[in-house]
Amino acid sequence: MEQFLESDIAEVAKNLGEDAQLFSGKTVLLTGARGFLGRYFVETFAYLNSHVLKQPCTLVGYDNLVAAGDAGAIFPDHPHLRLSKHDVIQPIQWDGGRLDYVIHAAGIASPFYYRAYPLETLEVAVTGTRNMLELARKHGARFTFFSSSEIYGNPDPDHVPTQESYRGNVSCRGPRACYDESKRVGETLCYVFHDKYGTPTTTIRPFNIFGPGMQETDYRVLPNFASRLKAGQPLHLYGVGVQTRTFCYITDALTGFLQVIAKGVPGEAYNIGNPHPEISMLDLVKTIEKVIGKKVEYHVIEYPDSYPADEPMRRCPDIRKAELQLKYHPRISLEEGLRRFFSWSDRAYSSQT
Ligand SMILES: NC(=O)c1ccc[n+]([C@@H]2O[C@H](COP(=O)([O-])OP(=O)(O)OC[C@H]3O[C@@H](n4cnc5c(N)ncnc54)[C@H](O)[C@@H]3O)[C@@H](O)[C@H]2O)c1
Repeated sequence: MEQFLESDIAEVAKNLGEDAQLFSGKTVLLTGARGFLGRYFVETFAYLNSHVLKQPCTLVGYDNLVAAGDAGAIFPDHPHLRLSKHDVIQPIQWDGGRLDYVIHAAGIASPFYYRAYPLETLEVAVTGTRNMLELARKHGARFTFFSSSEIYGNPDPDHVPTQESYRGNVSCRGPRACYDESKRVGETLCYVFHDKYGTPTTTIRPFNIFGPGMQETDYRVLPNFASRLKAGQPLHLYGVGVQTRTFCYITDALTGFLQVIAKGVPGEAYNIGNPHPEISMLDLVKTIEKVIGKKVEYHVIEYPDSYPADEPMRRCPDIRKAELQLKYHPRISLEEGLRRFFSWSDRAYSSQT
């Protein structure tokens, strides 16, 4: 199955411009390398190696495959790439020589998965982060932690769009706590390593990234909608359908991620997402109708038992910090991103849910 649009990967390289050379000749360790974002990092570094970098960068990736799905189980063969199955809760014995960047993207991100694996979700964000930080510290590497917009919990409406300085409204109990609280501890670990040892840590808080390559069984909202559309079934909107989100297309997100990884200010956290539009699930359905050019049937239903309670009502990033410090500017509109995603999912997804 085609997992990416090659034109998307080329777009990221173009967006990066001269910043791409910050990876020239470097060694990068990536955790979560077979997940949705991890697979994009792998393809982007492979593309940069063959088309852009003055000297190739070496990428060493790890994943324990707990949430990688079918696409993740296929290990691509690229020059300068080594992928292994490894659980980052166990330390990595690094024998790859010099280490320049550690990208800790392993995590259990889909609410359906973290409800099923709460302890593993906690462990990868706490013990896994600690292990990767120790490695970065030992080798003097820049370290980037993939946190989440979920660390803001259900923000007070006065703090939407939400700035990095907002402290969050999060419960340490309940079905979401394994994810959002462990990401908060992961961020604290980054702060401590930077403060105590001077390790150059940065943190990324992604806001709903989407694009080709999302697994049909991922259960996040857009793959869920795409899968039901492909099967000719009505969409399911949970609750009352007025909860809002913003959606950031993968090429914009990857550009922002790589800018933070290469040149984010040590010790800092960055929102990466696209603040426009902040859209309710009901309006998202209308936008999908416009994009695919046909009427979409939907039902507003109760939250299923498998979905964690306390869903945040609003989610929208303030991205001025990344704009000012890193020149991060999302370019792909929601309609254009949905057009690329639905034309891909129509080819890639099966017709059964
Ligand atoms: N995609 C988004 O919109 C989004 C939003 C907020 C935060 N994030 C964070 O970004 C990171 C990547 O997200 P994603 O969308 O690619 O998620 P994903 O679930 O598709 O991929 C994560 C990968 O990490 C692996 N993994 C989990 N535990 C592991 C462990 N102990 N050892 C090794 N590998 C392990 C999984 O098998 C999976 O392949 C995650 O940490 C996630 O929490 C993503």
